[in-house]
Amino acid sequence: MRTPTCDITTHERWFGAFTAPYLEEGPEHVGPVRLKIEHTHHVLSNARSIVDSEDFSPLVQRAALLAALYHDTGRFPQYRRWRTFSDPRSVNHALLGGRTLREAGALDDEPVEVRRLVLGAVVMHNRFRVPSGIPDDARTVTDVVRDADKLDIFRVMAPHLAPGAERDKVVVLHVEDAPGKWSPVIVADVLAGRVASYADLRYVNDFRLLLGTWVRDLRFPASRRMLAASGLVENILSALPASDDIARARTRILSDLADAARGRGGA
Ligand SMILES: [Fe+2]
Repeated sequence: MRTPTCDITTHERWFGAFTAPYLEEGPEHVGPVRLKIEHTHHVLSNARSIVDSEDFSPLVQRAALLAALYHDTGRFPQYRRWRTFSDPRSVNHALLGGRTLREAGALDDEPVEVRRLVLGAVVMHNRFRVPSGIPDDARTVTDVVRDADKLDIFRVMAPHLAPGAERDKVVVLHVEDAPGKWSPVIVADVLAGRVASYADLRYVNDFRLLLGTWVRDLRFPASRRMLAASGLVENILSALPASDDIARARTRILSDLADAARGRGGA
C-alpha cells in the first residue's frame, strides 16, 4: 500500500484533465500527444522504482514523484503552438512547463518546500548539466527525474531508431536519415566518456550514439540496472553501420553497459 507521502492520485487526475484537451485537436495530433502522456506514465513508474530503492526523506520522495509526473507539462503547450518537440525550433519546454504549472496552480496545495523542489526539477530536467552548488535535496529530486526520463527515452526511441523504421520527424527531432553517416564529434564524445549534446545531432546514427553516452550518466544504481536489464541499448546499437570508429564507440558503450548491469556507473 502507498504511504500518504507517495499517494499522488489527486495530481495524476489533475494531469489527466490538463492533457485531455490536447487529444482533441485533430487525428494527426493524437499520436504525438499520446506519446508524451504515455511517456509521463512510464517516467513516473521509473521514478517510483528509484524512490523505492533509495532511502530518501518523505519530502524528497513526494517531490520526486510529483516532479516526474509534471516534468514534461511544457510539451503540451509547446506542441500546440509549434507542432514540434524540438526546443531549438520552438521554446525551452522545461521553462514553459514550470510557468504553466505555476499559472495553473497545480502545486498550490503542496507545502512550499515540496513546491520549490518540484518546480526546480521540472525546469532543470532537460539541462545539459545540472548546475553545481544547488542544495542536496534539489539535486536528488532533479536526478531522479533525469534518470527516469532518460530510461524512458530509450524505450520511446528504440522502435523509431530501428533500421528501416518509419521515422516520425517530430519524434526523431528532424535529424537526417542517412544510414551511412554519423558525426565524428559524437563518436569523440562516446570515446571520451562525455554526454553528447542534442545540439550536435545531425543524423539518425548520431541519435543512436547519443543515447549510448547516457549509459554512464545515470546516477542511481536502480536506474542503471533497469537500463541494462531492458536490452534496449544493444538493440539501438545493432542498427549502427560498420566502421572502425563505430566499432570502437560500440565497444565503449557496451563496456559502460556491463558496468551498469552491476549497478556501477560514472555519474
Ligand atoms: Fe522533457
